[in-house]
Amino acid sequence: MKRNLLSIQDLSSSEVQHLIKLALKLKAQKGKLSTILKDKAIGLLFQKPSNRTRVSFEIAVWQLGGKCLYLAPQEIDLGKRESASDVAKTLSRYLDCIVARTFSHKDVVDLAQNGSAVIINGLSDLFHPCQGLADVLTIKEKYGNKKIIATYIGDGNNVCHSLLLACAKSGIDVRVATPEKYEPAEDVVTLAQVFAQESGSTVEVSTDPGAMVKNADVIYSDVWVSMGQEDEDKKRKKDFKNFQINSDLVKNAKSDYIFMHCLPAHRGLEVTADVIDGSNSVVFDQAENRMHIQKAILAFLLGETK
Ligand code: CP
Ligand code: NVA
Repeated sequence: MKRNLLSIQDLSSSEVQHLIKLALKLKAQKGKLSTILKDKAIGLLFQKPSNRTRVSFEIAVWQLGGKCLYLAPQEIDLGKRESASDVAKTLSRYLDCIVARTFSHKDVVDLAQNGSAVIINGLSDLFHPCQGLADVLTIKEKYGNKKIIATYIGDGNNVCHSLLLACAKSGIDVRVATPEKYEPAEDVVTLAQVFAQESGSTVEVSTDPGAMVKNADVIYSDVWVSMGQEDEDKKRKKDFKNFQINSDLVKNAKSDYIFMHCLPAHRGLEVTADVIDGSNSVVFDQAENRMHIQKAILAFLLGETK
């Protein structure tokens, strides 16, 4: 039976741990070429732009000995030129795996349900699981298994959802502060609470960034206006103005806190330049880790080293 990765909830806690360990092992090999994906063809089916996800997957597949194909938004035109179901059935005749970046999460689910190719969610409106796993990898690299608090401030969106689930599965206390009406989805928070109970961690959601950042070891931010929300730009910038991560806010965190951001970032909006470019920031280690965790994900789902 094929395994997909549509959300962190598709993995058990021990599988998450296994992926982190495998990513660290592959990272230590410093890009050494292997044959883990020998004879495997992977397509990147993207409806939205990407820097990190596209480039890190392309290089990961090359270093693991597979073939990677980028399918730009205008090429397949998912849901318009052709249904997700027909796309999945067709591409499964050519490809072993599709990394899909979509607007609607339903498209990722439809791809997974209608073809034999393994589907990896490369970001949907609901989840960004590869990001969440890279984030936990980055946190574990910095803190090991120390009991820590990770605080996310901003929109209760795809990145926030996957961070909630990934931290809760990994024993990391996770706190979220969003403006009213931008809270993470209730069912995702409930699921994170279940995972947190199993791993012995906690989940807290609030509208008070100052309270959530107190004693935090990690402060995390994402854009206020996600891809596809450009029409809401003006309103969102107004609604999020008190949720900026700046030098005043970070004073409440531990002095050796780390700043994380999935990128791309907007200096002067969700984070000030002194914070993201300061000595506590690990955003480029985090970006690098996308490639290492994705190698682990590909090896786990498609390779011999299951
Ligand atoms: N963080 C992230 O997914 O970046 P890209 O949108 O550039 O892929
Ligand atoms: N929330 C952002 C993440 C970008 C990596 C978006 O969906 O555009």
